[in-house]
Amino acid sequence: MKKISIAIDGHSSTGKSTLARQLAKSLGYVYIDSGAMYRAVALYAMENGLIGETLDEAGLVGHLQALELGFKLNPETGRSEIQLNGENVEKQIRTIEVSRYVSEVAAIPEVREKLVRLQQAMGAEKGVVMDGRDIGTVVLPGAELKLFMTAAPETRAARRYKELLDRGESVTFEEVLRNVRHRDHLDSTRATSPLTRADDAIRLDNSDMGLKEQYERVRSLADRILNAKK
Ligand code: CDP
Repeated sequence: MKKISIAIDGHSSTGKSTLARQLAKSLGYVYIDSGAMYRAVALYAMENGLIGETLDEAGLVGHLQALELGFKLNPETGRSEIQLNGENVEKQIRTIEVSRYVSEVAAIPEVREKLVRLQQAMGAEKGVVMDGRDIGTVVLPGAELKLFMTAAPETRAARRYKELLDRGESVTFEEVLRNVRHRDHLDSTRATSPLTRADDAIRLDNSDMGLKEQYERVRSLADRILNAKK
């Protein structure tokens, strides 16, 4: 059976990674979480004194060459998890603190250049599901199936708020909603590869859609493409 590439882009907290994981698992494909890579760079900047009153862009760019990023299977979770300079930072990158800075870090052209190059190398073979903001437009423009996911900001903030509470973070719903809106704005208005729907991406608003329904819809889209390829 021929393999395809699947690109999932969209606004923050739209459940891209949940859908991407389900698809990768059922198709036997590799899942790549491009957002985790931007989050890891933001974490690095925070831990190395590059974020004070403002983000030290030039300082961060100076460190980029020495920064090693990759994914490694964690046998305990069964998931491939982000590694920053050889250390598993999967947990540390999911905090609201990292969410606060990540979109500024992701707007730096040199950061994007490095990460896009890595992502393209990881996605060079078919049989990959990658999620992010610029996957269908920049990273894998040749992907056979492209999705653009969105939902009402309040719905997205409620989902993320629950996730953060479950992980034991103390945040307020308003803070999460503000962060979701702020990142939407920064991600959509930045100069280098802003978040935008690729012409050939299918729009999916999941404000009122359950996980199962969403998965089944997208899986049938993938099957149609795969059957036509046989
Ligand atoms: O999980 P959530 O949708 O909230 O975000 P994420 O996928 O973990 O991505 C975190 C941030 O990284 C986004 O808000 C973007 O600023 C940036 N990002 C990006 O610029 N390009 C990508 N391909 C992926 C993420």
